[in-house]
Amino acid sequence: MLSASMIRESFADVFGRACRVFTAPGRVNLIGEHTDYNDGYVLPIALSQKTFVAAAPREDGLIRCWSKQYSRLPEPIEFKIDAASRAGEADWAKHIRGIATCLVRDQFKLQGADLLIDSDVPIGAGLSSSAAIEVAAGFALLKLSDQPIDLVDLALAAQRAEQEFAGTNCGIMDQYMACLGVAGHALLIDCRSLEYRAVPLATEEASVVICNTMVQHELASGEYNVRRSECEEGVRRLSAHLPGIVALRDVELEDYDHFAGSLPPVIQRRCNHVITEIARTVEAVEALERHDLETFGRLMYASHDSLRNDYEVSCPELDLMVEIATGCEGVYGARMTGGGFGGSTVNLVANQSLPAFQATVSERYLERTGIRPELYVCQSGGGVREEH
Ligand code: GLA
Repeated sequence: MLSASMIRESFADVFGRACRVFTAPGRVNLIGEHTDYNDGYVLPIALSQKTFVAAAPREDGLIRCWSKQYSRLPEPIEFKIDAASRAGEADWAKHIRGIATCLVRDQFKLQGADLLIDSDVPIGAGLSSSAAIEVAAGFALLKLSDQPIDLVDLALAAQRAEQEFAGTNCGIMDQYMACLGVAGHALLIDCRSLEYRAVPLATEEASVVICNTMVQHELASGEYNVRRSECEEGVRRLSAHLPGIVALRDVELEDYDHFAGSLPPVIQRRCNHVITEIARTVEAVEALERHDLETFGRLMYASHDSLRNDYEVSCPELDLMVEIATGCEGVYGARMTGGGFGGSTVNLVANQSLPAFQATVSERYLERTGIRPELYVCQSGGGVREEH
């Protein structure tokens, strides 16, 4: 487990001075997948795993940053804060360049800074390690420069950083959670109004377990952008029958049933997923609020089937992980989580079955793939903050 004092020591080693420490969490989404950029609902939890940014101000307008996970050289990467933009660049510092550029563009007066980044959010696991970097670094830069912070605005700036600098035309879920996560709760986020409702987790009965397949297929980002434009095409075509809709969120299931047949098959499958997933998310929250974990779990399985068959963003390793979980005792539900094409599944498991679940999943997944998975029993954490 990383701690603020460990990061302070690393910062002193690299930059030779004292610092302030800021953190932002990774997230796991319980249900509501690929709905955020369709103005729908999502239901993520902020994780206790987080990204740390240790930071100290500079007077010369330079950002110098170094990462425990990514830097291959001992020297920090260096750039001018008001000329940080080199979009599409491959180095890891694109996340820092991105958020700095977007905040400067939003008229914030930012000072230069030395930044050291360390994280225990698993990378490539679909748990939003990059949103956590963008948000923690953005928060650090604003705090060092004594600028006012509105957390929703910070989330929006971090989303633009991801879109422009990392090339994924993502929705708002990951950056929003990194900013506004509430410990002990899942957040039902309305991705249209950007408001949320905090829903307590039923931790006495069951735990959320993340199973990392340890694979990440290359096509993830490209296919993500294709899905997003397929949804937009769905809206364009459906609006011929349903004037006034601006996103798939606006399409009621009953109306959709009338017009689905008019869509080309691929677009129809994409719309099937999004429209039913938004309805499932609303139903799942109601189930969670009345502690009906059986219904919640059934909706998780249905979500996975829809992501696999209609949205086509799963992969053999994710399907296998869900299949293994389905056969284990005490499992209410399991599904892929995040963008897909690798990464993790999320599972709702009765507390008394946890040890057997962990042992069985690890053993069977290794047996079938030759890959040793990582499992995390999820501890929920809060959003971005300064660590004292
Ligand atoms: C990625 C994106 C999110 C969201 C999920 C899928 O994590 O960054 O905005 O679209 O995929 O639900």
